[in-house]
Amino acid sequence: MTRILTVGVATLDVILLVDRYPAENDKIRAAGRRYRRGGNAANTAVVLSRLGHRCAWAGTLARDEAAQHIRDDLERHGVTLLGCRVHAQGATPTSYVILGRAGGSRTIVHYRALPEYEAADFRHIDLSSFSWCHFEGRNVTETRAMLDHARARRPDLTLSLEVEKPRPDIETLFSCADLLFFSREYALSQGTEQAPEFLHHWQRALPGKRLFCTWGEAGAWAADEAGCLHHAPARLVQPVDTLGAGDTFNAGVIDACLRGYTTEEALRWAVVLAGSKCGQEGLDFPIPA
Ligand code: FRU
Repeated sequence: MTRILTVGVATLDVILLVDRYPAENDKIRAAGRRYRRGGNAANTAVVLSRLGHRCAWAGTLARDEAAQHIRDDLERHGVTLLGCRVHAQGATPTSYVILGRAGGSRTIVHYRALPEYEAADFRHIDLSSFSWCHFEGRNVTETRAMLDHARARRPDLTLSLEVEKPRPDIETLFSCADLLFFSREYALSQGTEQAPEFLHHWQRALPGKRLFCTWGEAGAWAADEAGCLHHAPARLVQPVDTLGAGDTFNAGVIDACLRGYTTEEALRWAVVLAGSKCGQEGLDFPIPA
């Protein structure tokens, strides 16, 4: 079994299921309510654990009831908490999610009152037994220090970085990772309207790296180490819940790469896995054969 460390956020997701999206100043009734543990890096760790890897998650936790729910859920999924920083002040980051039952689309309002994870805590983690370390692209200065530390300690460790949102200077992190996950939101924020054009640009700027870019219902694209572009169309399911689909995609890519698949095969597997996730609520979806 491969050991994987994911570094980032764990949240409480308060999900309201709605039959139609509310307009501004609207008053509608929810068809259901769910409380789930969320957070990109934590979600990715859970899916990787379900795929048979030994996973650990590092991040910050509050001292409230929701934090206990996060711990319990990660433990239930076999994910170890490692090098976590518990803050006496602050509250568990909470996402208020409106999930449309018709198409599974989600709108997230995120509330955050907890300090970000810092390199000072990451440096205490013994990286010797890990094969892969995955980071969320946030808090650029600290993430840079963590990437540099991991690279210096373990030059053979594969480092991946998720770039979900445009943030000041986030581009300074790109050269530090071996594999990058870009969201459509980030690509669009850079003025490109097509994933291939976006990947072409970055593949020229970052030669030798594997780059992935998800594009919702259009599927996903990847650029391999040689700079060839690949596309995998989305799997045709009736989406029920797209919350965490990107995190599942990332897990699929990491899983496939660790199993020695090519970039193109990894892309296809990740799209199939994310499609399966969208067909069911939560992350306990059926793993496709
Ligand atoms: C889904 C997700 C949610 C969380 C939010 C944080 O990708 O990780 O579980 O609330 O994004 O940005």
